Amino acid sequence: MSNNLLAGKRGIIFGALDEKSIAWKVAERCVEEGAMITLTNAPVALRMGEIQKLGKKLNAEVIPADATSEEDLEKLIGESMEILGGKLDFVLHAIGMSLNVRKKKAYTDLKYEWMQKTFDISAISFHKLMQQLYKQDAMNEWGSILALSYIAAQRSFPDYSEMAESKALLESFARSFGYHFAEKAKVRVNTISQSPTVTTAGSGVKGFDEFFGYADKMSPLGNASAEACADYCVTMFSDLTRMVTMQNLFHDGGFSSMGMSPRLLED
Ligand SMILES: NC(=O)c1ccc[n+]([C@@H]2O[C@H](COP(=O)([O-])OP(=O)(O)OC[C@H]3O[C@@H](n4cnc5c(N)ncnc54)[C@H](O)[C@@H]3O)[C@@H](O)[C@H]2O)c1
Repeated sequence: MSNNLLAGKRGIIFGALDEKSIAWKVAERCVEEGAMITLTNAPVALRMGEIQKLGKKLNAEVIPADATSEEDLEKLIGESMEILGGKLDFVLHAIGMSLNVRKKKAYTDLKYEWMQKTFDISAISFHKLMQQLYKQDAMNEWGSILALSYIAAQRSFPDYSEMAESKALLESFARSFGYHFAEKAKVRVNTISQSPTVTTAGSGVKGFDEFFGYADKMSPLGNASAEACADYCVTMFSDLTRMVTMQNLFHDGGFSSMGMSPRLLED
């Protein structure tokens, strides 16, 4: 169902790899709500993934960009403004990857070279993206920039490993850059802290299936789906949330406010 909440708005969506990706659902919902978008992902993901299929379906150009490369980001932003016919109203950063998690390194035995790469891909890329948007004056007034986070930024979830620090850094960048972007052009910057979601990145975390079930029971509304996250992103990109900025917004069915749920003691 469309309410035309994003009619006439232009945006860039990072991170749609396949149909399960949160960014995939966000892209679909944004277009349904009247937005024009470009899609982007790392060149290797473009080769492996199905993003071209999404591009065709949504009539959206797919532009390769490694989010750790300032040069790629600069080009992506310039090309997107050209294709979409003006400055941008919204941007979604939906990027996460940990080398130590992928290579199953214990948290007490991390390889620091990989950790730095993890931080670069999962968090510093958000600063690089905002810096390029800022320098190119690419955002319209009252625009909205979002990144996706996870509650391991605040609490200890041992199997999430160095991604916890990545998310803490990501959320801090939203607060710090949110100030500068508000001053410059009344642009808001927020992170959405999403429930565990069955995607390529999510399922890569050890014990994901068990944890997904635990979080579902712990959350009075249950885990928030990727589709529900897309709905929330649309509201954050719309004009209905203009005064929300520099926040980490929990989208987790109530998980973050729970201490203990009797549902966990059942059966
Ligand atoms: N799935 C979950 O349980 C969950 C929960 C909370 C937050 N998140 C966050 O949501 C976001 C999206 O993840 P997802 O769960 O949809 O998984 P996903 O695997 O579908 O998406 C991750 C994306 O990051 C992209 N990426 C990796 N390295 C990149 C690079 N160098 N440049 C550009 N893109 C790069 C991948 O190609 C992929 O499209 C991530 O930030 C993730 O941490 C996920």
